[in-house]
Amino acid sequence: MARMASLYRRHRPQTFADVVGQPAIVRTLSNAVQNEKVHHAYLFVGSRGTGKTSVAKILARSLNCVNGPTLEPCGECEACVSITNSTSLDVIEMDAASNNSVDDIRDLRDKVGYAPTREGGWKVYILDEAHMLSGQAWNAFLKTLEEPPPRTIFVLATTEAHKVLATIVDRCHRFDFHRPSLEQITTVLKRIADAEGIEADDRALAMIARSAGGSFRDAIGTLDQLVTYGGKQVSFEDVMELLDVADAETVFAATDAVIARDPGAALRRVQELSDAGRDPVQFMRDLTAHLRHLIVVQTLGEPPDSFSVTADQVPRLEGQARDLSQAEAVRAIDLLADAVAAVKDGADPRTQLELALLKAARPRSDASIEALLMRLERLEQGEPDGGAPAPAPPKRESADLPAAESEEAPPPAPALQGDLELARLWPAVLERVRESDGGEMMAALLADARPLTLEDDVLVLSYPATASFSKRKIEDRANGERLSQALRLVSGRPLVARFEIRDSEGDDHPGSAVRLTEDELIARFKSEFDAEDLADQHAGETAAAAEEN
Ligand SMILES: Nc1ncnc2c1ncn2[C@@H]1O[C@H](COP(=O)(O)OP(=O)(O)OP(=O)(O)O)[C@@H](O)[C@H]1O
Ligand SMILES: [Mg+2]
Repeated sequence: MARMASLYRRHRPQTFADVVGQPAIVRTLSNAVQNEKVHHAYLFVGSRGTGKTSVAKILARSLNCVNGPTLEPCGECEACVSITNSTSLDVIEMDAASNNSVDDIRDLRDKVGYAPTREGGWKVYILDEAHMLSGQAWNAFLKTLEEPPPRTIFVLATTEAHKVLATIVDRCHRFDFHRPSLEQITTVLKRIADAEGIEADDRALAMIARSAGGSFRDAIGTLDQLVTYGGKQVSFEDVMELLDVADAETVFAATDAVIARDPGAALRRVQELSDAGRDPVQFMRDLTAHLRHLIVVQTLGEPPDSFSVTADQVPRLEGQARDLSQAEAVRAIDLLADAVAAVKDGADPRTQLELALLKAARPRSDASIEALLMRLERLEQGEPDGGAPAPAPPKRESADLPAAESEEAPPPAPALQGDLELARLWPAVLERVRESDGGEMMAALLADARPLTLEDDVLVLSYPATASFSKRKIEDRANGERLSQALRLVSGRPLVARFEIRDSEGDDHPGSAVRLTEDELIARFKSEFDAEDLADQHAGETAAAAEEN
């Protein structure tokens, strides 16, 4: 049984009007045809599947149609049909990748001597992959290209213009084919689906377009594959399955989880991926690309045209770019890169993805980033940065440790916002203390303290009754100064630390979780979401259970 010609061959645009995008090229060539002022050598430059061969054939058909030259070749005459089928004697398609020797070119040169078969017709040579010709071959061709016989046109098509000899480029009219947008690819897919009676919903087509990397041909090829193996009903799930890529929705949702600092939601996204049989590493790459997009949008203020996003994704992309700070985006990209590297070294892909998302989604405890971010945020809000070490020695009143502030301290900044700020602040302070000279000992004393509240620049810390020794030591003057410094460095303003003894060390302390180390935190998340289960097949139930909690 003869296999039907592939979709992309059957659905090449037939006239200039059918060409989607590339308006400048279409306009210039249309004018040339209409005025019969066609140049004898064109260089079509563009990445694969952007329409170079198609436009070359349209040009040939427009010139050679019985009604030609015309912008509406009939598509039925001998010339039109034979050009479409690549059997025309006047339109010669040559692949330079396989015919790149000097002999091939001499052969071509000899053929160029024959006049077109039809009076008034043109000979059109379409030389694909032109950059593959050897230097010698080009030299053999140069003369012909310079002075071709009348009514002869060369169209050199290449994906890599820089590999074509400058002397050749100089002799051609050059056209650059742009990568199509997602919308343009979807338009072409819709047109083909309608013509073929293929039923594919918008989501499915958008997904195919997104995966095509700016190539009409690849998009059409994917549709072809789907139809060949699954029939004319093409669902979004079919596309997902064939492409093995995460859909935009999951990428957006995972980013939302990071923005919302919702590790549970992040894990559920991984679960969905896993249920759909997606490749975690591919997802990491997709998510990385998305985060990079966010940074670009943050920088430019809007998505550049080169982004393949659908119109309805633009507001969402802009929203995420607003909600995720650049530092957080960079950090998430780093975490994902580490995860991909770990997988290359043999680590389990799913676990790595989970860890990367957990880390990206939970409050940070990296002191340096934390401290910098908080200070930057404050500076951005136009508040004074009190981070520089203060010249005046601290005063001491009762058990309160005054911050290193002078009499004319800046006006009190608005209170940091609740538990989240506290959770962000405390680990960073601890790390500052630990880093300072001889700070190890002091950090050990502080390990028993739990941050309770942060209000009006007063940070209240509690010690259990059993740790009253630690409390006394920490209230010692030298230690107090060191703590004030750390607080100031991290928060960017003078904070006062006050210590209390609490009988029970209840877990209702707002900042109680923040003493955990990174590994402990992850272990805790894992146990809260029952990650032993998550790691295997039944994780769906656990994730659902976690959601109910
Ligand atoms: N601008 C376009 N408008 C509509 N369809 C297009 C366009 N460009 C390409 N296509 C579709 O994509 C298919 C591949 O295009 P074409 O062969 O012309 O690309 P190309 O640039 O020559 O690629 P390559 O570098 O791989 O040879 C065509 O059959 C056509 O269906
Ligand atoms: Mg081509």
